[in-house]
Amino acid sequence: MNAPTKANAGRKSLRQFAREIDLPSMHSPLFPRWSQTRSKLSELAWDLHSANAYAHYRSTYPNAGAPHIERTGLYDQGRLNAEDTEALNRLFHECPIKPYSADDFVEGYNFDPTGSLESYNTYRTMTPAFEAKLGQVLQQIAPQLEEICGHHVRILSSQIWSLNPGPRRYQWHLDWWPVALKKLFILPGGIDEMMGSTAFRLKTGEEVIAQGPPGAWFVFENSAIEHKGVESSTVPRPTISIHLAPSFRTDLRLVDCGVNAGYPFFPVEALSESSAYRDPEYFRRDRLDLRTLKRVAEFAGLDVTITEDGMVQMPVPAQEQQAPAPPAGLASVVRRKLGGIRRRLLSR
Ligand SMILES: [Fe+2]
Repeated sequence: MNAPTKANAGRKSLRQFAREIDLPSMHSPLFPRWSQTRSKLSELAWDLHSANAYAHYRSTYPNAGAPHIERTGLYDQGRLNAEDTEALNRLFHECPIKPYSADDFVEGYNFDPTGSLESYNTYRTMTPAFEAKLGQVLQQIAPQLEEICGHHVRILSSQIWSLNPGPRRYQWHLDWWPVALKKLFILPGGIDEMMGSTAFRLKTGEEVIAQGPPGAWFVFENSAIEHKGVESSTVPRPTISIHLAPSFRTDLRLVDCGVNAGYPFFPVEALSESSAYRDPEYFRRDRLDLRTLKRVAEFAGLDVTITEDGMVQMPVPAQEQQAPAPPAGLASVVRRKLGGIRRRLLSR
């Protein structure tokens, strides 16, 4: 590793800079501004992508009717067969428990900055055997998912967790994701008011609480209809939670983006490794990601800090240029530097 020099002191890559703003554990003062700007750009990008994906599906299947889910915002009739249900339930309990961390999400993904789900759910890491079984199940229900959603379907992230029993106070809410994104829940042990469930306010005005036997699954528009948890009073309830997006082809490969990962802010389609397609130079993934981050930073008013080569020049106070901060204080130095940028921005 190269030793830091005066020339590169205070420089960091835009990716690193963005990550430090995002990580809940860093408590960056830039986060609100950065996050609000990115959300607006993300909504716009997902809106356009989703409109194109819906249109593409309709042109592929001209006789397809209106998407099932559109009328109420909820499809709750999914049922797996007994054999698959038993296998998923058994394999679920063989998956090791994974500690929750609010910082556990991959770059470029939406996340809950409050980390509020830690006490609600106990997360697990999928074993290869569980993934294989779940992959089979998803292949089976893929045609149904397309019909329900009215578009080809791609998985954005997936988690498995048990809803912890105990008294909770749940509030009606929307998830405030781009509205075309959806959640698929598969309940290998079933779902009802005793095990804990989810209540929905449907587009028809009706309120329902999801119920179903072991192997039940349902899809809902988590940002179009209000919903809230219903507390579990008995035993933990195993849940497979999968985030879905409109796509130009159905791709139900599982993606683990961390326990606190929601959806990618920008709808770039992942291509299968077997694809012969190669990205044109201008749209190489790393270049696209960098341009996206630059645009977010510019719209958030942070453009003055970004150099031509995609590095962020951090302001270094005069006294620190002469005497480098001790390594133990690195986190606080980063926070001070970010605070400096914020003060400069606010004073403009
Ligand atoms: Fe929610």
